[in-house]
Amino acid sequence: MESLIGLVNRIQRACTALGDYGGGDTAFSSLWDALPSVAVVGGQSSGKSSVLESIVGRDFLPRGSGIVTRRPLVLQLHKTEGRQEEYAEFGHMPRRRFTDFSLVRKEIQDETDRITGKSKQISPIPIHLSIYSPNVVNLTLIDLPGLTKVAVEGQPESIVEDIEKMVRTYVEKPNSIILAISPANQDIATSDAMKLAREVDPSGERTFGVLTKLDLMDKGTNALDVLEGRAYRLQHPWVGIVNRSQADINKNTDMIYARRREREYFATSPDYGHLASKMGSEYLAKLLSQHLESVIKAKIPGIISLINKGIDAMEAELDHLGRPIAIDAGAQLYTILELCRAFDKIFKEHLDGGRPGGDR
Ligand code: GDP
Ligand code: NA
Ligand code: MG
Repeated sequence: MESLIGLVNRIQRACTALGDYGGGDTAFSSLWDALPSVAVVGGQSSGKSSVLESIVGRDFLPRGSGIVTRRPLVLQLHKTEGRQEEYAEFGHMPRRRFTDFSLVRKEIQDETDRITGKSKQISPIPIHLSIYSPNVVNLTLIDLPGLTKVAVEGQPESIVEDIEKMVRTYVEKPNSIILAISPANQDIATSDAMKLAREVDPSGERTFGVLTKLDLMDKGTNALDVLEGRAYRLQHPWVGIVNRSQADINKNTDMIYARRREREYFATSPDYGHLASKMGSEYLAKLLSQHLESVIKAKIPGIISLINKGIDAMEAELDHLGRPIAIDAGAQLYTILELCRAFDKIFKEHLDGGRPGGDR
């Protein structure tokens, strides 16, 4: 049976095709809001892109100074079996398989510019990217523009607020899981990510705290107060990370090698050795995948009911348009309608404990 996360991924893609990515008012906007996903938040240069690349095990995100991420990137990871080649696919060009990940980076940049112009503006319209690989866990992550305090040259003053507003629309949803990234070489009390997380999730039940740059802390200091939950209490355990440094990136240090080095860092660390099995990007990926799966499971009944409401609304809309309609919005609605009927069926099977056919 298809994984639950895989199923939700497909519904999310269908909603995006309809222009439903939160805030909208079409048949499936409440469905989109109900689907759990992991939103990555943090200040600029806190290490968001590095954490995402580390989770994927590939180098594929645009980098640079300033605000590089200017549209949400909905990143869906699909674990494939066997030794299949890794490839990526974009929602906006479904027939093209990317096996060269430097071209993925370029396409993210180009597609960002297509909507925002080269104006350095931001846009709430997400880019959908799926990665198929035997080396990932099933997981959906949404990369968001970094929180910032000042506009840079060429950007309108309002960008600081615009970014915060956009990030908020994602993390405010009660179903969103917040991956809050803070660098260890800054005081946690000043972390943009934790400030926002505390506001929208005061009890810390849907926030996962991630502390990057442990290797950059001043000698003689450590982050145990944070990692052991004393400095900032969350319901989930904090995860410490050591990403590639800028020098590593400049040298093109391999991601798989970087992951191994990260493991060694924790295993041999006098400060963090006792936490080693619960640190690092691979552990973080597993933790998030398990959590996402269990949240989706708990929400299946609600998701089914929203799908059915969406189906009803769509049928009404199709009746209004008259069906079948070829090559236009009607055809697209029709495809999505079929997709939703299929989901309804498969979700019910999952509810029935995975027995195909699910006789209840
Ligand atoms: P973003 O702006 O939040 O996406 O941050 P990036 O992932 O682009 O990281 C910003 C800079 O910090 C890059 O030069 C990274 O190489 C560096 N960096 C991120 N995480 C770490 C880390 O854990 N250790 C070290 N040494 N450098 C890091
Ligand atoms: Na950056
Ligand atoms: Mg980034």
